[in-house]
Amino acid sequence: MAARGTKRQTQQGGAEFITASVEETQALGERLGGLLQAGDVVALHGELGSGKTTLIQGIAQGLGRDPASIKSPTFVLMREYPGDLPVVHIDGYRLEGAPAVSWLDLDLIFSPHKLTLIEWAERFERLLPDERLEVRLSHISANRRRLIISGHGSRAERIVKELAPTSSGPQPAAEPEPHVTGD
Ligand SMILES: Nc1ncnc2c1ncn2[C@@H]1O[C@H](COP(=O)(O)OP(=O)(O)O)[C@@H](O)[C@H]1O
Ligand SMILES: [Mg+2]
Repeated sequence: MAARGTKRQTQQGGAEFITASVEETQALGERLGGLLQAGDVVALHGELGSGKTTLIQGIAQGLGRDPASIKSPTFVLMREYPGDLPVVHIDGYRLEGAPAVSWLDLDLIFSPHKLTLIEWAERFERLLPDERLEVRLSHISANRRRLIISGHGSRAERIVKELAPTSSGPQPAAEPEPHVTGD
């Protein structure tokens, strides 16, 4: 299923998507999941309820996994879903900030044989690998979310281009910007 969220290029070179429902966020995640492979790291930033776990459920679907199996590991720091491509799901919600996680040796977690998805990535900032995808999520209104996806490193940049092929070429006919209120 194609993501129907509107998209455009941001000034920082990332791709911006606006989704109007849980299903649209999951559909965007599904497309992203179809582009990911072992060794990739996706760092998700955004306040509570911005849709990080929802996007990850879509990614799971794109990997051919059951999205319902993905629960936010809010009460544990990390959860691993075994499979042909093992998925490591990290959630920093319970952490008090980066210094509190300095004990965590993320080098041991970022495996070339696994896909790593990190919620509250801002809390791991100094520990993240240089090559990664960044997703910044924010609320527009009750049902609308803004997702800015950018790539650090050539592989991640390629993924962003594949996800939003129009972001580096001519712009498509613009869909109207959503209203900030009124959902
Ligand atoms: N467009 C949307 N995309 C994602 N979630 C949405 C959207 N609109 C409303 N929601 C709601 O926002 C919440 C997102 O929750 P979740 O994905 O767990 O966020 P996070 O992991 O960032 O805390 C859910 O309650 C979901 O129903
Ligand atoms: Mg979450």
